[in-house]
Amino acid sequence: MSDAVLETKNLNKNFGALAVAQDINFSLNPGARHAIIGPNGAGKTTLVNLLTGVLRPSAGAIFLSGEDITTMSENERVKHGIARTFQINTLFMGLTVIDNLYLAIAERFGGATEMFRPAGHHIKVQEQALHILTTLKLEENSLTVVRELSYGRQRLVELAIALALDPKVLLLDEPAAGVPSTESHIILDAVDNLPEDIAILIIEHDMDVVFRFAKRISVLVRGSIMAEGEPEEIATNPEVQAVYLGEADHV
Ligand SMILES: Nc1ncnc2c1ncn2[C@@H]1O[C@H](COP(=O)(O)OP(=O)(O)O)[C@@H](O)[C@H]1O
Ligand SMILES: [Mg+2]
Repeated sequence: MSDAVLETKNLNKNFGALAVAQDINFSLNPGARHAIIGPNGAGKTTLVNLLTGVLRPSAGAIFLSGEDITTMSENERVKHGIARTFQINTLFMGLTVIDNLYLAIAERFGGATEMFRPAGHHIKVQEQALHILTTLKLEENSLTVVRELSYGRQRLVELAIALALDPKVLLLDEPAAGVPSTESHIILDAVDNLPEDIAILIIEHDMDVVFRFAKRISVLVRGSIMAEGEPEEIATNPEVQAVYLGEADHV
């Protein structure tokens, strides 16, 4: 029995004749700092979509803490502890940062109206929201209306909401994508400061970020895991080097 928090067994996904995931056996340990790298179109986002339940595999299985979740809905997986960053349009743009978080946390405690009932419960929600904002260095923006934040900070609010779901596993698919380079450091700093007990899987094209953050790296090429190991092993693997030299314009 593996002690992985998230594990796939021979996971396959085809889009018509195109095999985008081919016999993927992947595991994420508790508290992992794991990156998946690979050229554009390798199937990285598809894998995240399979793990979160956005897509159903053509074959194979997915386990969360040993439980088979292959047929579980996206919402159920969130309740079981798999979070990802949300698309920006799921934020309530007209509400403050803290109110966005209250709603996410209250939802988790069972129904958004419940937080207005027992006072003790409400305080717990407040404490947790503040703790998350502090972790992400967003506390100064707590009372700012989301619409008035920079794009980078809006992405941080998405990350805050993912944390508010109290995940065991957090999947980050290019968390700084689209954020201007003047601001991308705030996202990457936040990623570095995420709670240690959460297993994190990041997909990131910036190799400096990958090699600084990850303790383990998987290389996905044309839907298959070509190599997996510690950063030093990956950096010196001739097959991996060949892929990256051969497709340098995609990296
Ligand atoms: N819904 C879909 N229908 C058909 N093909 C898709 C779909 N989603 C992705 N693909 C194809 O699957 C391959 C992998 O895509 P993706 O997982 O987005 O790659 P990556 O995130 O590594 O760049 C690409 O060739 C892409 O065009
Ligand atoms: Mg992608």
